[in-house]
Amino acid sequence: MIVKILENYMELSKIAASMVAGEIKRDDKLVLGLATGSTPEGMYAELIRKFKAGEVDFTDVTTFNLDEYASLAPDHPQSYHFFMNKHLFDHINIKPENINIPDGCSSDLDHECYEYDLRIEEAGGIGLQILGIGTNGHIGFNEPAEMLCVHTHLVDLSAETIKVNSRFFESFDQVPRKAVTMGMGTIMHAEKIVLLASGKSKAAAIRQTVSGGLTTAFPASLLQLHKNVTVLLDREAASLI
Ligand code: GLP
Repeated sequence: MIVKILENYMELSKIAASMVAGEIKRDDKLVLGLATGSTPEGMYAELIRKFKAGEVDFTDVTTFNLDEYASLAPDHPQSYHFFMNKHLFDHINIKPENINIPDGCSSDLDHECYEYDLRIEEAGGIGLQILGIGTNGHIGFNEPAEMLCVHTHLVDLSAETIKVNSRFFESFDQVPRKAVTMGMGTIMHAEKIVLLASGKSKAAAIRQTVSGGLTTAFPASLLQLHKNVTVLLDREAASLI
């Protein structure tokens, strides 16, 4: 793992965006794995700026998002479809047919999960995967558990995740209890991974990610097994390492 400690959130966002833009320059047909949550918002803003300045071109890029809430329609303001359109896709020149986000409303979610992995495989696998991290060590929505799933699957969200994510909803009861997420295998097969974390609330999770023992009770710890992971942190997220 390469750990980079940046001065603040803005620096972290700029470096993350430069890494994405650099990969697209290297391979204009990049298959890019994307994350939601507040952490990557700054990176997306910087990517939009770079696009408008002619510094990056998304024409042939394909994207796969990590996850989506089950039962939230794409036009629901808290769905990850809505988030991605608002924070990135509506502002760049990516082709709509190259955007992939799990369909949490599918009437056959098992089939949707199977199909999603197939689509990733057919695209040639993920070249660069962007990750955030939950305070409980989840990546995507792979929650701490006795056993972790390899493939894209339907997951019950943990009480901690429901509580943390309730800040985006009007009430706790409105937070979906289930989600579709790429599995740990899907994520670990990415050629390169960049994990972003910002703020004090992530410091303990980052310590466990970079130097804790490997355990399914802390899914991000498994990233230590991957051969090409860069962890970008601001000073606060790095304060316990
Ligand atoms: C959600 C997403 C994760 C994300 C996490 C952290 O639960 N499923 O992919 O990493 O939130 O979010 P934030 O960046 O807002 O702390």
